Amino acid sequence: MAIFAYDALQKEHVLITGATGGIGSETAKVLAGMGASITLTGRRTNRLEQLAAEIHEVTPDPQVFTYKADLGNETERNELVTSAEKECGPISLLVNNAGISGGGPVEQLEQEDMERVMHLNYTATVLLTQLVYQSMKQRKKGAIVNVTSLSGLRGTYGGTAYAGSKFAMTGFTHSLALEAIEHGVRVNAVSPGFVDTEMGRASAQKKADRQGRSHSEVVKESIPSGRMTKPREVANTIAFLLTDAAENIIGESVKISGGSVLR
Ligand SMILES: NC(=O)c1ccc[n+]([C@@H]2O[C@H](COP(=O)([O-])OP(=O)(O)OC[C@H]3O[C@@H](n4cnc5c(N)ncnc54)[C@H](OP(=O)(O)O)[C@@H]3O)[C@@H](O)[C@H]2O)c1
Repeated sequence: MAIFAYDALQKEHVLITGATGGIGSETAKVLAGMGASITLTGRRTNRLEQLAAEIHEVTPDPQVFTYKADLGNETERNELVTSAEKECGPISLLVNNAGISGGGPVEQLEQEDMERVMHLNYTATVLLTQLVYQSMKQRKKGAIVNVTSLSGLRGTYGGTAYAGSKFAMTGFTHSLALEAIEHGVRVNAVSPGFVDTEMGRASAQKKADRQGRSHSEVVKESIPSGRMTKPREVANTIAFLLTDAAENIIGESVKISGGSVLR
């Protein structure tokens, strides 16, 4: 069920990274349904095209632009922003959602894995934000939502690399939020626990394997609501934070945990 008005984000142009993934694709559908022009990016061209077609099926007259880019690559980041702004005008909303998991317990951690995770989840995300933030600042208007994680607020077993990168994003969210206030730009984060996507199912399974239990036992025991968060629930929270309804919500990490933070 769509919970927001079809014109709530009219005249806005939103860039969504990781749009080919579970959370990103739901976010794209919700924001397109609120009237925003959408730039979708990821590395899988076929998935980008498929998502654009799905949006066209359910949204009257959407403006959807797809651009394949590896965010770890400086040239591709620059070309992404230039092309998106040429096609749909200045980017007024940014959803930093692309991310990867990886690493393992500290004694098994390879430097290469750690750097790969940090590079995409933190460094490349900050550098992309820099590009977009400059023009938001000049126009004195914008909103940014970073998709961090509960792992950006508390440590997890085997999370040295992933949780480290998400803690870094929490620090970035707080710091940029403070810098951006005077320029009319709002910065927040959403911090989900297990979300029912490929990544979320794999990480719940990893925990289950380590504890010698089943996937469903792990979910029931670690989440009081008894289920994983649906990608649409994360998308709805992102959408809310991007609207003027959230005008005085600044520098928050909105937890979506089914109550697991209470345990
Ligand atoms: N699922 C969970 O339980 C959970 C919980 C908390 C936080 N999160 C966070 O939520 C975000 C989305 O996760 P998800 O569950 O939707 O995962 P997902 O389905 O695996 O999606 C990950 C996305 O990141 C993109 N990506 C990965 N490497 C990239 C690169 N080098 N350049 C550009 N794009 C890249 C992927 O696109 P391509 O493969 O097409 O490049 C894909 O669209 C991530 O930041 C994740 O850390 C997830």
